[in-house]
Amino acid sequence: MPSRSSGARGGAVRPACPAPVLRGERGRCAAGVPRSSPPGREGALCSRRALRLRPAPGMHRAGGLWRRRRAGGGGAGPGPRPGDGAALGAGAGLGPGAEADPGLLRASSPEVGRRLRGLALVRGAFVSSGEAAELLRELEPVLGRRPYQFDHWDGAICGYRETERARWGGAGRAVLGRVAAAFPPGRPPLPLVHVLDLHPRGHVRPHVDSVKFCGCTIAGVSLLSPSVLRLVSCRAPGQWLELLLEPGSLYVLRGAARYDFTHEILRDEESFFGGRRVPRGRRLALICRNAPPDTTPDALGDSLAFIGGTAPPAAPQ
Ligand code: OGA
Ligand code: MN
Repeated sequence: MPSRSSGARGGAVRPACPAPVLRGERGRCAAGVPRSSPPGREGALCSRRALRLRPAPGMHRAGGLWRRRRAGGGGAGPGPRPGDGAALGAGAGLGPGAEADPGLLRASSPEVGRRLRGLALVRGAFVSSGEAAELLRELEPVLGRRPYQFDHWDGAICGYRETERARWGGAGRAVLGRVAAAFPPGRPPLPLVHVLDLHPRGHVRPHVDSVKFCGCTIAGVSLLSPSVLRLVSCRAPGQWLELLLEPGSLYVLRGAARYDFTHEILRDEESFFGGRRVPRGRRLALICRNAPPDTTPDALGDSLAFIGGTAPPAAPQ
């Protein structure tokens, strides 16, 4: 099924990355994807998806289902349940000043850790077990109807099925309301949330989400299996950061972590967090993105100019 938000993987990459190309043509995308991308290799970015999945201009601007006041838990609809420790106030403190849970983050050097402080964030226990169970009950009937895609033309990802969702039950509304706190004022998440279901043998190859379809902030909630999210600098492949994504955790990528580093979800064989093995089972992610700064009919033109060698716009905050 067409999926708009997964188009965020397609299209543009930073010119500073190796082989700064717009992987725009289908054939090129299919042909250009290394089966296994070593750290630092930019993954495939297939804009076939991007073109197919391009968000309708203005759609996000309408505000859709997102109401920022919910970020503070004050919106309509069911909020955190009493006694729900994970839910209470968990959306607070997710801005650029926030600190990641130190035990869930490893950096190639203290300097890289400092550089990405507040820009690559991970929070354990963001989702309560009750919320997770309700989310799974809601999503399973939708996802279960689809086969997993292996060796699909989307070169950035292997062994997956996905959907998008704008309307959520109570748990989804509560969780996503808290996730919205990770987005800067005036740049809320898009109404459609990308739901990515990775097979135990599935993985996400290194890539940078398209600047045509995704703005300055990406926030993902992980369910079911733990996994490792690895970020590798586009300029200096020796510089990396790894986030341990426990079930129920939240990660946020913004600014340099979103634009200057590729991100990937490690396949089972490579799934280690330092010395610790992180066995990969089926993993479900709810991924929220905001719109690029200027989502107009000319957005594509802007992106091509960017690919031509200019630096991306500073992440609006
Ligand atoms: C993507 C992506 C990461 C995740 O779909 O673009 O990077 O958390 N997914 O599954
Ligand atoms: Mn991505």
